[in-house]
Amino acid sequence: MKIGILTSGGDCPGLNAVIRGIVLKGTTSYDLEFVGIRDGWRGVVEGDFVPLTRHEVKGLSKVGGTILGTSRTNPYEGDRGGAENIAKTLFGHRIDGIVAIGGEGTLAAADRLSKDGIKVVGVPKTIDNDLRATDYSFGFDTAVNIATEAMDRLRTTGDSHQRCMVAEVMGRHVGWIALHAGMAAGAHAILIPENPMSLDEITALVQSAHDRGRAPLVVVSEGFKLKGMEEAFSDKGLDAFNRPRLGGISEILAPEIERITGIETRSTVLGHIQRGGSPSAFDRVLATRLGLHAADAIVDEAWGEMVALRGTDIVRVPFSDALGELNTVPQYRYDEAAALFG
Ligand code: F6P
Repeated sequence: MKIGILTSGGDCPGLNAVIRGIVLKGTTSYDLEFVGIRDGWRGVVEGDFVPLTRHEVKGLSKVGGTILGTSRTNPYEGDRGGAENIAKTLFGHRIDGIVAIGGEGTLAAADRLSKDGIKVVGVPKTIDNDLRATDYSFGFDTAVNIATEAMDRLRTTGDSHQRCMVAEVMGRHVGWIALHAGMAAGAHAILIPENPMSLDEITALVQSAHDRGRAPLVVVSEGFKLKGMEEAFSDKGLDAFNRPRLGGISEILAPEIERITGIETRSTVLGHIQRGGSPSAFDRVLATRLGLHAADAIVDEAWGEMVALRGTDIVRVPFSDALGELNTVPQYRYDEAAALFG
């Protein structure tokens, strides 16, 4: 059997480790043949394939980004898009099935293509940890480690100047990165989309930390909404899936905190640094295991399913489990962290 592998959507540390896991197990245990698909669904639509043998994946588990490239292309758009055209393109290259490694947008496309007759196995990916189908997604742990290290650094400069530091992390509409990195770094306030707060509530925490002689650290998730805000802050337009590009809420909050408390306040948007570089050991192991199990899923012809982490086991679930409702931070997890605020 010949299988195409693609990575789609925002990149994420661990993508290469998944590719390596699939190719190693697929070639050595099952005699499968692989091709790499360039730039996610774009490569499927345009028939852009590259060789993918054991040679191409050597040493990849520690390498960030994706050797296959990625895009946010929608496979149903364009002259050569749609399931019928894609089936012809795959047939022309003797490709029997696809492994799609991606987040919600990618898996939604995979689900639709699968229902339209294309053979697809999925692997969930997102630094945001917002997919319901899997307990953790690879990339999340790396992002949390990067954000934590950045906050440790913000704290030493904040301490030196007795400033309030506001650190903004990614996460779209869920606050997992903020919650974990904020807790790890000892933040005095963690602001997440699941728990809107007022400026008065935020500044009370900042003031209380300051009154105890601490330089306040506020961690804010890009999707956080102040009480009364209908949508998360966005001034960067829409992405290819028509979702608002988030980012910049810390730059709104910092001057307000300074105005209300009189404490000098600086904001830092960590941005794409959280997605770059080498995956953590945890993510290398998780991504590799998902890759190994994806190879098993191909051989079992588990088309329309994706591999996922449940507890410490890798299981198979239908694509639909990853779609719709997001994996949000439960209230009890936020309340635990809130006991440390102020
Ligand atoms: O979904 C992953 C993510 O990094 C989000 O946390 C962030 O909002 C978004 O992607 C950024 O996307 P882009 O790389 O297209 O700017």
